[in-house]
Amino acid sequence: MRLCLFALLLTPLAACGGAMNERAADIAALDGDATAGGDLYQTNCSACHGADGQGTSQGPNIVEEVAEHSDESTISTILNGEDEMPAFEDTFTDQEAADLVAFLHTL
Ligand code: HEC
Repeated sequence: MRLCLFALLLTPLAACGGAMNERAADIAALDGDATAGGDLYQTNCSACHGADGQGTSQGPNIVEEVAEHSDESTISTILNGEDEMPAFEDTFTDQEAADLVAFLHTL
């Protein structure tokens, strides 16, 4: 388990240095509005991750992922996608992405 967590922590580091990570850092520095983020989540994410983040057959439970990872890492996943997860870099403004992350922390 410790090794697994270590591998998870290294993944975003390996991707460091790109413009996308600067954007993720900018977004993480914004104040998000969890109420607005909740609407965005239900529209864009709940089909795969469930209304309460517990996951579906299309996507994993993300509650613990969000708690364990830095906001930059979570934002990078949302912007860039990951495996079966689509990229949302063109879907959200920076403020919308910050709102979404604020909502994810309420799950
Ligand atoms: C088409 C289905 C789908 C949609 C839509 C989707 N996701 Fe995902 N998401 C996935 C899958 C599948 C994974 C697991 C990716 C992997 O294998 O690492 C994932 C992983 C994640 C993770 C965890 C990444 C990690 O570090 O393990 C987060 C956080 C996440 N999604 C958030 C979101 C948010 C927020 C939205 C809406 C903006 C969203 N997802 C929309 C399928 C989806």
